[in-house]
Amino acid sequence: MATTVTVTGAAGQIGYALLFRIASGQLLGPDKPVHLKLLEIPQAVKAAEGTALELFDSAFPLLAGIDIYDDAKQAFEGANIALLVGARPRTKGMERADLLEANGGIFKPQGEAIAAGAADDVKVLVVGNPANTNALIAASNADGVPKERFTAMTRLDHNRAIAQLAHKTGAAVSDITNMAIWGNHSPTMYPDLFNAKVKGERAWDAVGDENWVANEYIPRVGKRGAEIIEARGASSAASAASAAIDHVHDWVNGTPEGEWVSMAVPSTGAYGVPEGIISSFPVTVSGGEYTIVEGLDVPEFSQQRIDKTVAELQEEREAVSKLGLV
Ligand code: NAD
Ligand code: LMR
Repeated sequence: MATTVTVTGAAGQIGYALLFRIASGQLLGPDKPVHLKLLEIPQAVKAAEGTALELFDSAFPLLAGIDIYDDAKQAFEGANIALLVGARPRTKGMERADLLEANGGIFKPQGEAIAAGAADDVKVLVVGNPANTNALIAASNADGVPKERFTAMTRLDHNRAIAQLAHKTGAAVSDITNMAIWGNHSPTMYPDLFNAKVKGERAWDAVGDENWVANEYIPRVGKRGAEIIEARGASSAASAASAAIDHVHDWVNGTPEGEWVSMAVPSTGAYGVPEGIISSFPVTVSGGEYTIVEGLDVPEFSQQRIDKTVAELQEEREAVSKLGLV
């Protein structure tokens, strides 16, 4: 039987890059048929229909069907995987609180719709920004769905952190293991070189340059999204879609022995991160369930930065709590 995958914001930039990779089998695996359910706002349904025509024309053997909706309840009915990509971008003159409120208007009803009709095993990935807090809003409004099924995407940050480290050290991307992103998908995120390895050596030692790590590497990874916007005139799309594929692929299929990936997941209280906020951690996955990796080395250099990004997430939680969204 086909796995039902619901994608919101299907007519957007990320949607366009994402849907073809899902339909080709890269999300779930080469032997797993998928049924796509696309959700868009009414004005963008026609564009989503155009993308559906192209998906049809690609004759993907694993694509069992495509349906398009402008109604969240119908779109999430029976969803095994839900990719929440559509969000309200910040526009000129908009304050942070306005952005959180506007997104509350999207992610609250979507959380309710997931609770109303998604499959019992639903797994949710929120990509739309502010991703961690949007995931918290959706989770808080999805009565009866276990909170741990709601995750947010920091895999793009994880991949960026690997690519920058490989470039600096001259190693291959495949030589970098055990990367971890901590905290929020925002410039405060913390890419951790104390636990990452380059050809098995601690990355911090392989680099041997604290100034570069503190003043070039961490800000570069944290502000990469802004750098892409500046260069392209639009936010990252294909790399974001690729990271969404990686996130769900690993959540469904598992992580290799001895390796972990970064996912923003509801905190269990691990590493002193307040329980319930959706913060990025290193996780391992087995049998479709993730576990936060405990007991890692967190020196003062890391702790200060983790505290800062977690404090930002707490502020976002307080702001949406005041709006009655969580
Ligand atoms: P986009 O503007 O090209 O597309 C967004 C789409 O969402 C539009 O087609 C819009 O009509 C749709 N949409 C808006 N409200 C909706 C709703 N209520 N239901 C269904 N669809 C809705 O944007 P994009 O480039 O595809 O980016 C999407 C989001 O992903 C943005 O919030 C962006 O900031 C975020 N993003 C996150 C990461 C990450 O790493 N977490 C990386 C890149 C981009
Ligand atoms: C990214 O990291 O590329 C995006 O989250 C940037 C953005 O603001 O859309």
